[in-house]
Amino acid sequence: MWKGRFAQETSALVQRYGESVSFDWRLYAHDIAGSIAHSKGLLKAGIITAEEQSQIESGLLAIRAEIEKGDFEFKEALEDVHMNIEAELTKRIGPAGAKLHTARSRNDQVATDVRLYCRSSIDSILKLTRAMQAALVECAERGGEAVMPGYTHLQRGQPVFFAHHLLAYVEMLERDAARLADCRQRLNVMPLGSGALAGSTIILDRDFVASHLGFDGVTQNSMDAVSDRDFVAELLFAISMIGVHLSRLSEDVILWASAEFAFVTLSDAHTTGSSLMPQKKNPDVAELTRGKSARLIGNLMSLLTLIKGLPMTYNRDLQEDKEPLFDSIDTVSLALEVFTEMVSGMDVNRAKTEATASDPMLLATDLADYLVNHGVPFRQAHEVIGKLVAYSIAEKKAFGDMSLAEFQTFSKAFEADVMACLNLKTALEARKGIGAPSPQNVAHQLARWRKALSAA
Ligand code: ARG
Repeated sequence: MWKGRFAQETSALVQRYGESVSFDWRLYAHDIAGSIAHSKGLLKAGIITAEEQSQIESGLLAIRAEIEKGDFEFKEALEDVHMNIEAELTKRIGPAGAKLHTARSRNDQVATDVRLYCRSSIDSILKLTRAMQAALVECAERGGEAVMPGYTHLQRGQPVFFAHHLLAYVEMLERDAARLADCRQRLNVMPLGSGALAGSTIILDRDFVASHLGFDGVTQNSMDAVSDRDFVAELLFAISMIGVHLSRLSEDVILWASAEFAFVTLSDAHTTGSSLMPQKKNPDVAELTRGKSARLIGNLMSLLTLIKGLPMTYNRDLQEDKEPLFDSIDTVSLALEVFTEMVSGMDVNRAKTEATASDPMLLATDLADYLVNHGVPFRQAHEVIGKLVAYSIAEKKAFGDMSLAEFQTFSKAFEADVMACLNLKTALEARKGIGAPSPQNVAHQLARWRKALSAA
């Protein structure tokens, strides 16, 4: 492609070092769509004839069909997907093919292809995120009114519904979906027409070309456009965040599936056995997902490090953007899919969560709130209940087994109705502020999500 200026062939080693077609072949569909749109721009500008444009378009469509059938041979010597396709086109249709690269550089071409690739990947990751949310909502609904302890510091805190805990992850994934949508909107402008770095003296109607590719507009600075990979960093961050959320859920699932917690049962199809210990049923899907999230974060770090020291404008370093990008897209997609399946096969062990939640200590805050409702300032109430807790531990006597007289030795504000707030059901019903886990609130949230997700 550049033989005019060179007297020597590229060394075989340099070819092997610099080729990207072994991984960027994946851009083929977008590369072809971009080239067809570009050829329409060339036609409109009078650079090629209608006949030539139609030869280019049908030649490219034939190549695409061959690639999709697995009949196309990508050649390492032709370096990347762009040159492979263009060279093959020219081989097939001759002079018209040789005109395709007019007013275009691989720099604006690859920037366009990668944006298109990210755009369609976002659309599919968004669908997988929605499916994962739906599986969580469905698992929460199957759990019914199962109560469990909510934890802070992994110490039992206050009672919640299992559904409320799962819905926390639905919220996280909702933010992830919003980040993906936001990233999609910002990346949807077309770099094509920026040339190598300074546009071209041959003027094409960029808006016209962009409209053929579904872009909302065109980039406004040619130098920025060919060197910008912010959108890759943004997407890798959005994907990493999904990974972090799945990793946290993994950790919950791993704990819950242990004999110590035994809060959930995972299906046999989503667990593995041990080659040595016959009794084992391991939560490998969750462990792998926790592990794979490290890769996603690593890919984000690679990309940020790749671009941080680059002088303007395009530098070959940028070819290294693709492998982390492709890997993160593949990894998060598979993780979402397999997690969705696993959650669909996960059942809460209500007897165990409720036995654990019946620890009366979970209602210590409710007792403090009781005193507040009887005129005791909260800090004082907290101290009174602290002493009551110490007494309960020392005497091995649960709150429910204490007499009113015993309560009153800690505070005169206790009255006969204190026993009513020692009930889990009452305690949950009382948590009716927005976002808190009263049964009504949780039912309302489940209905809200079900509706939102069926519309998505
Ligand atoms: N394979 C290259 C990449 O991915 C395409 C652009 C090459 N441009 C160049 N000036 N060598 O970045």
